[in-house]
Amino acid sequence: MRIAISTGGGDAPGLNAVIRAVVLSAHQRGWQSYGILRGFDGLLGAEGVVALGPAEVRGITHLGGTILGTTNRGNPFRWVARDDAGGESEQDRSDDLCAAFNASGFDALVSIGGDGSMQIAHQLARKGLPVVCVPKTIDNDVFGTQRTFGFDTAVSTATEALDRLHSTAESHERVMVVELMGRDAGWIALNSGISGSADVILIPEIPFDIARVCDKIRQREAAGRHFSIVVVAEGACARGGSPVLVERRGMGTVDRLGGIAGQVAHAVARLTGKEVRTLVLGHLQRGGTPTTYDRLLGLRFGAAAVRAIANGEFDIMVGLNDSTITTVPLGDVVGRQRLVPLDSDTIQTARELGISLGD
Ligand code: F6P
Repeated sequence: MRIAISTGGGDAPGLNAVIRAVVLSAHQRGWQSYGILRGFDGLLGAEGVVALGPAEVRGITHLGGTILGTTNRGNPFRWVARDDAGGESEQDRSDDLCAAFNASGFDALVSIGGDGSMQIAHQLARKGLPVVCVPKTIDNDVFGTQRTFGFDTAVSTATEALDRLHSTAESHERVMVVELMGRDAGWIALNSGISGSADVILIPEIPFDIARVCDKIRQREAAGRHFSIVVVAEGACARGGSPVLVERRGMGTVDRLGGIAGQVAHAVARLTGKEVRTLVLGHLQRGGTPTTYDRLLGLRFGAAAVRAIANGEFDIMVGLNDSTITTVPLGDVVGRQRLVPLDSDTIQTARELGISLGD
């Protein structure tokens, strides 16, 4: 058996752990693994494919990023071709991809990615490619799994940032507005905000009213607490508003969000008279050493992907459900997202701790 591995979309801590587990568990079965470089570019462009054995994946479990490289502009169904004049056009190169996959003699593809990669994998499966997916994103918003690897590390990084911000906020009696990742789902903001003792948490699932945010800051002032920490997910928006874009990216990929912290900070300063500072934590949340949890989850997912191939299960995603690794049909996963349920006990906990959710 020849197993191809690709990593697509934004990187997340734990990707290398998944790659290592796939390679080692394939090797145990006498199978050979290959890494497609830079998403699917390795099969469609000049990047190529590398053979992966135990020696190539030695000592990578604890490393952030992906040894294979990645891109969020690598959709073979919406391939962005550039002409000599710098112009761009979209092409469907999925047939080229399938042909290159077959010509390389691959028997299965392990695609490690988020919702975009799942959609691509499902479309490829419908064209006959034997695909198994592993859910990756720091946003934790893939449907069909209670956890994606990368999330735990991102939450730890964000929580540490909030811990560190408290000293300046308190010493200078300022409001600190911290923008965290989370396009559609507020998992990172909610979990790190509660753990890092934020006073206000704004998430995409709950449109906020800036007046309520200011009420909370004023209540704290009245109680002698002259500083506040406001956590805002990048995809959060005011009631009746829409998410703040930093760049409309157009072809082959999604728009870039960013800037909501600046807007919230400006409004808070104007309405409360407080001194306000912003921090956009950005890609620090995606980098660095994966936590033990993410390493273990990545290793379990990688081994499970190879187990699924051995069982002849394709067009599926491995997932974590009720503490157990399961397989879920890709058809049940694509086009859906796992948002923060508004009736979850974590939301209730935030409210019971006196944290404002801006509503
Ligand atoms: O999907 C993960 C994510 O971190 C989102 O929260 C964020 O919007 C996006 O990646 C940023 O991607 P890029 O690296 O292209 O800026």
